[in-house]
Amino acid sequence: MIQLKTKEEIELIRKSARLVGMTLAEVGRHVRPGITTAYLDHIGEQFIRDNGGVPLCKGYEGFPAALCISVNDVVVHGIPSENVFLNEGDIVSLDCVIGLNGYVGDSAYTFAVGEVSPEKQRLMKVTREALYLGLERCRQGNRVGDISHAVQMHCEKNGYSVVRELCGHGVGFKMHESPNVPNYGTPGTGPLLKEGMVIAVEPMVNAGSKNVKFSKEDGWTCRTKDGKPAAHFEHTVAIGPNGPDILSTFDYIEKAS
Ligand code: MF3
Ligand code: CO
Repeated sequence: MIQLKTKEEIELIRKSARLVGMTLAEVGRHVRPGITTAYLDHIGEQFIRDNGGVPLCKGYEGFPAALCISVNDVVVHGIPSENVFLNEGDIVSLDCVIGLNGYVGDSAYTFAVGEVSPEKQRLMKVTREALYLGLERCRQGNRVGDISHAVQMHCEKNGYSVVRELCGHGVGFKMHESPNVPNYGTPGTGPLLKEGMVIAVEPMVNAGSKNVKFSKEDGWTCRTKDGKPAAHFEHTVAIGPNGPDILSTFDYIEKAS
């Protein structure tokens, strides 16, 4: 069952999603060679709590940290660690879900650590573009498959592949709601988009093959099978009366001084 949100509820989800954007920017400011992903997680958790939010990843099905922090060939769900140091040339995705006054926002952004290769820059650029092409399809009367197809086509046209095992999702009252929003699909198929739906669109894009493996040790870490890098960008978006209403924001990251 897809739960539609009222205008008032969407404003509350916007507040939560905005705090996610602020958190990603705050943590992003600390991304540099030599620091650990556990340190970044600590900064993020502190910032979320200082602003009245609840870091919903922490404790979710046993996930141990406030943020998912995924470096290079880790696609998503990287567990912050005292043993994972960032190096010049890495790319690192920060994925953050916050509850604020009972409403949930979800967003992710991939950052460069210092100078990164042109290949990694292009992977990040294309993944970010795929997200916005998907968001552009978030209009009443369209179907989920229209979003999925737009994301997939842009990635594959650029020589990349999209992960099949994990999807975007409904969000707002809980972290994961109906419908699933895959990053691959066929136009005109899947659930009909209606005003008041709120979903997280989140392309997970591999530089090489689409295949991934999940860590047997921790049960979470999702890596590319071929060891090539992956990027991940995510926004929470409402299906508004006049088209997509993007509730999370990269403005704090990209317009930072
Ligand atoms: N933000 C992720 C998602 O989009 C995180 C879920 S995994 C968690 O679904 F366990 F860390 F919460
Ligand atoms: Co998500």
